[in-house]
Amino acid sequence: MRHLLDWLDIDETTWQSCIREAHRFADHRSLHANRFLGKALGMVFFNDSLRTRVSMELAATELGANPVVVTPGSGTWGFAWEDGQAMTGGEAEHIREAVGVLSRYCHGLGVRLFAEGLDRERDVSDARLKVFAAASDVPVLNLESAARHPCQALADASVLHRTFDGNPAGKKFVLHWTWHPKALPMAVPNSTLLMASRLGMDVVVARPEGFGLDEEVMEAARRQAAAHGGSVTVTTDADAAADGAHVVYAKAWGGFERYHDPSAEESRRHANRDWRVSSSRMACTDQGMFMHCLPVRRGVVVDDAVLDEGPSLHLDQAEFRLHAQKAILSMMWGGETAAEAASATTSYS
Ligand code: CP
Repeated sequence: MRHLLDWLDIDETTWQSCIREAHRFADHRSLHANRFLGKALGMVFFNDSLRTRVSMELAATELGANPVVVTPGSGTWGFAWEDGQAMTGGEAEHIREAVGVLSRYCHGLGVRLFAEGLDRERDVSDARLKVFAAASDVPVLNLESAARHPCQALADASVLHRTFDGNPAGKKFVLHWTWHPKALPMAVPNSTLLMASRLGMDVVVARPEGFGLDEEVMEAARRQAAAHGGSVTVTTDADAAADGAHVVYAKAWGGFERYHDPSAEESRRHANRDWRVSSSRMACTDQGMFMHCLPVRRGVVVDDAVLDEGPSLHLDQAEFRLHAQKAILSMMWGGETAAEAASATTSYS
């Protein structure tokens, strides 16, 4: 059974094969139209979505499978998570039965399950995602959890390959923290950092004091960068980071202080309101491309002109969600064989 919870669990050959497959699907929208006829993909969305939901429903449908979406607590039962406790609260069904039942109906399950923001260890370790996966008898796809967003990472990696003619390695990639009214979770920055370092890019994490990423993720990114000829550095100077950058990937996230002192985190975050990607910051880059996973707050995270006048890849990223997720479904249910992948000549490291 092949879950996709985190690309760190997936070998290099498969990662490269998925990027290659995403490009093939991008070039041929109707490729493998009936490959998964008769299969059902269940998707459980505990949190809101536009891109993930629509692109995943389309990806499954265009490959011949039937997507089924469940939104717990809104038209279906709410699910309880705690073990060994009488379910006297509002939830009518335990996650163990819910996932068990869905895996009798479906051949694969996707789940969106954001950080709760209450217990750092629980969020960092993706504890609830692991409970969900353990209860399933069929493969589970992470559609954005507390700590990872692998579908976004594959789409972004595929876009970067296309943008840099198959060779993003050695390009300067800035992961640029931005202010946001809410302490957003770290799934996207974690996955973005891991993705760019795996591509061998020279990654600069630009963020204010107090907004460091999880050290285990940083360490994994440094290891990947070293293995693929890139680097990972950190700075609190956004202007210096932008200087000569080929890519500026904007993302807001909350500091870990939120778990023990939320008001201190909020004050610190609001003191950094000027961390926004402006046209003047982009002008310091080396004709750099703007990236964002969307949804994005205009005038907060980024100036309108950066999005409207470019160069920006944000809509390509969204488009590639469809192509990348077809590649992921093919990996999950069987597509390109290991022998085909191993004999491919293009390297995506
Ligand atoms: N980028 C992304 O996952 O978008 P949605 O939250 O709309 O799914």
